[in-house]
Amino acid sequence: MAPATSSVDGELGLGPDSALLVLTGAGVSAESGLPTYRGSGGLWRSHAFERLASPEGFHADPALVWRFYSERREAALRARPNAGHRALVEVERRMGQRFLLVTQNVDGLHRRAGSERLIEIHGRLLGTRCSRCRRPETTDETAYAEGTVPPCEQCGGLLRPAVVWFGEALDPAHLEAVDEFLERWRGGRLVFLAAGTSGAVWPAAGFVDLARARGAETWLVNAERADNAGRFDQVRQGPSGTLLPSLLGVSKTT
Ligand code: OAD
Repeated sequence: MAPATSSVDGELGLGPDSALLVLTGAGVSAESGLPTYRGSGGLWRSHAFERLASPEGFHADPALVWRFYSERREAALRARPNAGHRALVEVERRMGQRFLLVTQNVDGLHRRAGSERLIEIHGRLLGTRCSRCRRPETTDETAYAEGTVPPCEQCGGLLRPAVVWFGEALDPAHLEAVDEFLERWRGGRLVFLAAGTSGAVWPAAGFVDLARARGAETWLVNAERADNAGRFDQVRQGPSGTLLPSLLGVSKTT
């Protein structure tokens, strides 16, 4: 990786006393070549999410669900983190504990870019767990052959991708961590920045309200108008691979 040539004079003006909570969505990986869900060309525009991303859909046709997620795994493994992912790594290194990244993305690109203060609230595409027993989640990069549904070696149930589906609850510890971060840094300069997310899926779509209630300045970076755009103080329309480095004061070549 080339040496960072960072400065602190990005548009957000983050100084040593600032704290930054970032929420990312599928748009942040669009410039890595991965499709979004609801943006133009988005997956849920051509695929029925009820059949592919719900417990009921998995129960009805687990092989179809595994085919879909195996294709997603192949695409995610081919993709490389982009300048937006890298800018967030650089700002994390600068801010330390005053930084937290929460992502709805399951593609693993933030982690591969080097993010560590990271919460993956919708789970991991490259993870597998059992749909029946409490067998611990494992890292699994396998793209299963069409028609394959891997069995659980402990209980014989069906293994499933370790992503959170529609109708399923998020890990309460993840939501508590978001709340604790906001609570810890309220009173100082607190900034909430959402990027590449349509604001259509809860609870993440409501993080802007939680942040505002703690006195945060709220910023949104998105290619198209997000559903919750009206609830942000500042909105920048455009690609996150360009806008995140410039807002955060990080060189695009970092
Ligand atoms: P969406 O597909 O709903 O929204 C992605 C947003 O990114 C859209 O509003 C696009 O306009 C925007 N976008 C596209 N390219 C961009 C770029 N280069 N720079 C900035 N913005 C860009 O994705 P999410 O909001 O992440 O859930 O969707 C939330 C959840 O719904 C996902 O985590 C997924 C899905 O069902 C699960 O997989 C559990």
